[in-house]
Amino acid sequence: MNFQAVRDEEITFAELVADLTLDDLRNLTNEMVDTMSLMLQPYQTRSFQSMSKFATKQARAFYAQTYDVAVPDWPGEIDFYRELAAEAHSNGQSVLEVACGTGRVAIRLAQEGVDVVGIDLSPAMLDVAREKSASLSNMRWVQGDMRSFELGETFGLVIIPGHAFQNILTAVDQFACLASIRRHLVPRGLLVVHLDQPEVSWLGDLTRDLGGVFETTEEFIHPMTGCPIRTLHAWSYEPATQTAISHKVWEEIGKDGQVADRLDQGPIRLHVVFRFEMEHLLARAGFAVEAVYGDFFRQELRDDSSEMVWLARSRQSGGSSHTPRWTGPE
Ligand SMILES: C[S@@+](CC[C@H](N)C(=O)[O-])C[C@H]1O[C@@H](n2cnc3c(N)ncnc32)[C@H](O)[C@@H]1O
Repeated sequence: MNFQAVRDEEITFAELVADLTLDDLRNLTNEMVDTMSLMLQPYQTRSFQSMSKFATKQARAFYAQTYDVAVPDWPGEIDFYRELAAEAHSNGQSVLEVACGTGRVAIRLAQEGVDVVGIDLSPAMLDVAREKSASLSNMRWVQGDMRSFELGETFGLVIIPGHAFQNILTAVDQFACLASIRRHLVPRGLLVVHLDQPEVSWLGDLTRDLGGVFETTEEFIHPMTGCPIRTLHAWSYEPATQTAISHKVWEEIGKDGQVADRLDQGPIRLHVVFRFEMEHLLARAGFAVEAVYGDFFRQELRDDSSEMVWLARSRQSGGSSHTPRWTGPE
């Protein structure tokens, strides 16, 4: 038994347990039992604790491989992007998807004949995207950070679907991302940013008794192993920095209905962007807001809208003197 490998994040606790032999069990010392109980505690109490040490490369690969089955399209989403991409294509322009993940959206646009580039930080997500789009010569993938990238080309349309912009946690980085995007847009090119609009009462609950409580949120079949997977998901919220913390644990359900394996993603920090924060941010980064919708059917943003869909045009008029600079605190 290799406890040290768990501590060093080389293997997960689930992997350690999977390799246990009867001899291991017979030879367990009191110290080992104590260590194992400590490791099991977070699972049994289902309370939010820092289990990030269990988040491994394996969890990142699992997230990428199951992303498309776990995350459904938003109603009207793909048609909305298709329409805008077709407009860019008819003007001879291509489309950039920033933080494209597995290419859930980008590939659908490329399938319509549009030239599309997808950029993402995660090699695991891009591996899935590449495999899915192998037959599409008009689809290109780049590994890079949305806060600072240089592709050497411009686009008529840049999109950030699926709340991905919320992975950026500070105003400095948000600005840097928008500045990078603006450099890649043709003059008056269009940017679409899809954010969520969480209920304020839910965020309040997360700061009290709901925070860190794991609930079953999804059940799906793993596309590669065929095994049923159950997702336990806990959220918490830090109001001072507008940070929501998502924590998922995936359980593989065996033929006997019992949990056969567990994988911990660890906490992921996401920024909760409020409406007028976004409006100011876009203006500051050199964009003119064209619209903000509450869904992909272009309904107005209302109190009970769960989504925010921002359309903004680059005010770019050429020349470095027009490039906005960050002037706030670092
Ligand atoms: C929730 S997924 C959304 C993927 C895709 N936009 C979609 O709608 O299906 C968020 C993605 O953002 C990517 N990401 C997070 N931080 C990033 C960064 N700094 N630069 C580029 N991509 C990033 C992650 O790797 C992940 O693929």
